Amino acid sequence: MWNYHNPVSVHADTKGLSRLAAVLGDRRALLITFPEAAALGIEGQIAGLLGKQLAGIENAVQPNPDVSWLAAMYERIWQRYADVECIIALGGGSVIDCAKVMLTPTPSGRFDELLQHLRGGTQLSGVGAKALIAIPTTAGTGSEVTPWATVWDAAAGNKYSLHCAWTWPQTALIDASLMLSVPASTTLASGLDALSHALESIWNVNRNPVSSSLAFGAAREILASLPLLMQDLGNLSLRERMASAALQAGLAFSNTKTALAHSLSYDITLTHGVVHGIACSFSLPHVMRLAFGKDAQVDALLLRIFDATHTEAAVARLVAFLEGLGVSTDPASYGIVDSMDGLVQLALQGPRGRNFISNIAN
Ligand SMILES: NC(=O)c1ccc[n+]([C@@H]2O[C@H](COP(=O)([O-])OP(=O)(O)OC[C@H]3O[C@@H](n4cnc5c(N)ncnc54)[C@H](O)[C@@H]3O)[C@@H](O)[C@H]2O)c1
Ligand SMILES: [Zn+2]
Repeated sequence: MWNYHNPVSVHADTKGLSRLAAVLGDRRALLITFPEAAALGIEGQIAGLLGKQLAGIENAVQPNPDVSWLAAMYERIWQRYADVECIIALGGGSVIDCAKVMLTPTPSGRFDELLQHLRGGTQLSGVGAKALIAIPTTAGTGSEVTPWATVWDAAAGNKYSLHCAWTWPQTALIDASLMLSVPASTTLASGLDALSHALESIWNVNRNPVSSSLAFGAAREILASLPLLMQDLGNLSLRERMASAALQAGLAFSNTKTALAHSLSYDITLTHGVVHGIACSFSLPHVMRLAFGKDAQVDALLLRIFDATHTEAAVARLVAFLEGLGVSTDPASYGIVDSMDGLVQLALQGPRGRNFISNIAN
């Protein structure tokens, strides 16, 4: 028995933001975006398209939405824009996740109550929640088709996952031309994040034939197109291929959640400042080796992804792929001195670690 569900309506269009007005209808909207969007002209383009329907713009979203600044933004938005029905998130995973945090009203309008919910305390009703239109400007997180937001609390050394029935985006608008300006380092990290999502949804206890098929296609496409894109960042066709692959990886893990490599990554980002896409991908060869031998179908899929006939050949190809992109697979390169085995045992206890295909004790 299995079930696949994803309620997000996806539109892909190379003609910029032309669908946005139709998707929004007659609703008023708040735009949440990244700082560079103004200079890139995208913020102005949306303002021009929507005219008076655009109630306001929040454009100071920094990488890794952190409770230290989300609180002020949340309270400002619920004071000024309580009656605005829709949020448009234009940006990478940080912007889309930040926007997801803004969707839900709390009884007092204060962020503290949302934080208590994140920490596992209180329930929220979702009555009066805003709708979300997600327009990704990076090809990586898949947040445009998942209900989750990663919320960081760096001061406390914590990371939370926001997930409510109403935090799925209503619509995802995919336009790879918006990704042409993404710098090399973010192109690489976000692309590897997408690869990690694809592989993590395969070696996952929640996998099903649809998620595995989407993940297989995404992984093959990323292995083929990311190295080419890194040599040719202005290539729209390669940007489209990566946007589509990241979307498919997102559709895959929207039903499985992530697993061990992501569970390992959160402390590495918090403690060593390693950007998410690198933190959740440098360990993939190590994790893949642990995934082999638990399920024949998973083994077969992994071997096909890497055109390999046995485990070590697949692992070697993944190592060569990452190292070829300049990403070290040696934990010491990231300042990690603890043994990987010890870290793995800890990560397997985390909520995402428990999704790994087998809670290996061997
Ligand atoms: N919700 C999920 O399911 C999910 C999944 C994976 C990762 N995440 C989270 O997403 C975040 C990472 O997101 P990301 O990799 O998309 O990067 P990001 O959103 O943090 O953006 C990285 C940098 O690129 C800039 N940028 C974004 N788009 C640009 C463009 N078109 N042109 C120029 N600059 C641009 C941003 O301003 C930022 O400085 C992390 O916080 C991670 O935890 C969430
Ligand atoms: Zn990720």
